[in-house]
Amino acid sequence: MSEELLAQVQAAAPDNKPKIGAYRRHLLVCTGTRCTQDGESQAIFDSLGDKFKAAGLHEGEMRVKRSRVSCFAACKGGPVMCVQPDGVWYYQASGANLDRIINEHLVGGRVVE
Ligand code: FES
Repeated sequence: MSEELLAQVQAAAPDNKPKIGAYRRHLLVCTGTRCTQDGESQAIFDSLGDKFKAAGLHEGEMRVKRSRVSCFAACKGGPVMCVQPDGVWYYQASGANLDRIINEHLVGGRVVE
């Protein structure tokens, strides 16, 4: 969303609505129990704050918002993630794969194959 469009959306919102900051992308992480075991996805989600800071994704125009979802109804091959507004889905998004998603997609703008 462009900054101009975001300003228009925020200006149109009634005062009693929560304000959402400006983000370049939104990373949705499934922390449901059917696509990973032993809390792996939750641990990954918890690590994202530090990883985003290290990658410079915690502020500025490339800022990324992260949110947990309980299930995408795609419960195999987790951890499962979705990057919006790009509409890109990732499976087995842990370890080196997660590092590539952060560095190549969220920082570099290139979808990881
Ligand atoms: S529990 Fe993760 S996609 Fe369903």
